[in-house]
Amino acid sequence: MLLVDILNFLNSEINSSNYSEFCRALEYLNHKYYIDAEQVISDYDYDVLFKKIEKFEEEHPEIDSSESPTKLVAKGARSSFETVAHSVPMLSLSNSYNAEDLIDFDDSIKKELGDVDYEYYVEPKFDGSSIALLYENNNLVRAATRGDGTKGEDITANARMVKHILQVGDFKKLGYDTVELRGEVVINKSKFEKMNEAREEQGLVTFQNTRNTASGSLRIKDIAEVKNRNLEAFIYNIGFVKPEMGSGDLEKSQSFNIEQLSKLGFQSAQGLGKTCKTIEEVIAFCNEWEEKRAHYEYDIDGMVVKLNSIQQQLSLGATSHHPKWAIAYKFKAIEKPTKLFNIEYQVGRTGIVTPVAKVEPVSVGGVTVRSVSLHNEDNILSKDIRIGDIVFIERAGDVIPQITRVDINERKNVVDFEYIKTCPSCASELIRRDGEAAWRCVNTTTCPAQNLEKIIYFASKDAMNINGLGKDIIKRFIEEGIIKDIPSIYQLNYEEILKLDGWKEKSIENLRQGIEASKSNEMHRLLIALGIDGVGNTMAKSLAKKVSYLLDFKEYTIDQWVAIDDVGPKMAQSLFDFFHKEENLKLLYKLESLGVNLKGAEINTTGILYGKQIVFTGFRNPELEKKIEALGGEVGNTLSKKTSILIMKEKGSGSSKEKKALDYGVEVMTVEEFEREYSSIS
Ligand code: IVH
Repeated sequence: MLLVDILNFLNSEINSSNYSEFCRALEYLNHKYYIDAEQVISDYDYDVLFKKIEKFEEEHPEIDSSESPTKLVAKGARSSFETVAHSVPMLSLSNSYNAEDLIDFDDSIKKELGDVDYEYYVEPKFDGSSIALLYENNNLVRAATRGDGTKGEDITANARMVKHILQVGDFKKLGYDTVELRGEVVINKSKFEKMNEAREEQGLVTFQNTRNTASGSLRIKDIAEVKNRNLEAFIYNIGFVKPEMGSGDLEKSQSFNIEQLSKLGFQSAQGLGKTCKTIEEVIAFCNEWEEKRAHYEYDIDGMVVKLNSIQQQLSLGATSHHPKWAIAYKFKAIEKPTKLFNIEYQVGRTGIVTPVAKVEPVSVGGVTVRSVSLHNEDNILSKDIRIGDIVFIERAGDVIPQITRVDINERKNVVDFEYIKTCPSCASELIRRDGEAAWRCVNTTTCPAQNLEKIIYFASKDAMNINGLGKDIIKRFIEEGIIKDIPSIYQLNYEEILKLDGWKEKSIENLRQGIEASKSNEMHRLLIALGIDGVGNTMAKSLAKKVSYLLDFKEYTIDQWVAIDDVGPKMAQSLFDFFHKEENLKLLYKLESLGVNLKGAEINTTGILYGKQIVFTGFRNPELEKKIEALGGEVGNTLSKKTSILIMKEKGSGSSKEKKALDYGVEVMTVEEFEREYSSIS
């Protein structure tokens, strides 16, 4: 998924035909953040996207959202470490950004608890990588990452290299055989700077920030190197204890536990956190930390406000995403002023023209910023941004810079802002469609900028994945007249390329192999590469299951498109239009004649399951899925009115999925029943 696609989701309305693409975007961001330790967009934007989906789900109870990323913590655990299940899930926190949000949180606590006294414990939100430490009979026996919240990676050997993670913790003294601690692995800011200075001297790539470095370092398969990374841990919670909570000391309060942990030799919020009697006191304490955080020796991205009493915490419980007894208060990102000297425009592959602010280079949070996306016209107008203004740049989440506001007091001699009227690449007139924030160049056939972006997208990792044909090479090949459009990728004159600076037999052979290999890609990759609006990985896979030859889609009626999983009326129209446009069909025939695969898996149209969509819930069964497909059936992703059969592990549990299936008139079966009914399967 490309960043621009995610930013498009932030800018567009959610509806039933794009709902699943929104979910995929959120899942992608979760995967990036929790598994790859990469932050793609700011926390604020992440929250906007999360809340958009959540609100839509609330307003549309008819949509099955039980597996939505809003209901789950991040999905998918990828690693070469052993996977371990967390006995108690490692949840996220819900976020707040200002005093009002905190007051709302306090109101919800009051309502939940009823007429009783309560207090909060407020502590820094350490910006690192979460960890679960299991102590049995006082010994550290296992350390795991958060992973997807239910399963993490076993990184015990690495954790033993982290300062303040004790090999032995005397929990027996407190009456417990087993204790699981939750904490954050971080790197001290000045040690981080020193590491980077040393790396620079050795000619190594410098680290981006403390959070990603902490997270990455925990996953290195070399404990000596892990030790070099200056990792240390803050413990912030008790995950669980045995004997169960209710019989020992650690059941009292967060403030007491923080003190106990510190007495046992762990590093905790002792001396940093505070017990607060009122929400006003909480707000004042959060503000105090916001002021001093820049000078604090560790990166913290906010405060965590927790009900202090553990009994009250237990009585409130949690959603599947976050505990109800705690909230994160996120600090505003660091802002820096600079001068905006120009607004340039970039044309994307779909013709969307994005304004980009060119600013006088300014260092924000350790990174030099020169250009910043302005997203769209409305964003510029609502912030009243004009060329010549002094603007504030923030790097929210320390990654993507944004212009937050203009310093009106510094404004001199500026002219009103006006969006360009014609495409900067082909001079065609721009249009803005109803309900959209973006201006577009509608010259889809000959606009050079769109053409370049289309080729880049076609060859990219998520689409045809052509090894050796990256963005810069495509740009150069176009400049040199070596390629002009998508088909010309498959008609390269390698002798001409050899004449270019920097190209040798070996690099040409690699490129040739990459291009040749892409010819036999699975059909769904080509579907993605065509760049049809709304056709990402999941949608392309759904579509590819429908036909054994891509051009069979030419004959599809709107009704047939709508009958496909996750395809709503708008999407159906866009697919119908695509497969009726002459230039698109010409492109496909041309690619086919050049050897690109347009065939999918053979579909058994006479099989007993042909035309039936079967959905599994709560489990997957790859073997059975293969058999279903061999009998002409389709395995769907989500339960909908288009589903024929829902396969569950157990029937009659009264689960919401089962109820919904019955409401839709979908047949519900167990695996055994299904195999009996379609006896040729087993
Ligand atoms: S309490 C059920 N306290 O923030 C979650 N979390 O956004 C209870 N974090 O993954 C978490 N400092 O790794 C808590 N003082 C603190 C924290 C903290 C950092 C992290 C934690 C969690 C993330 C949630």
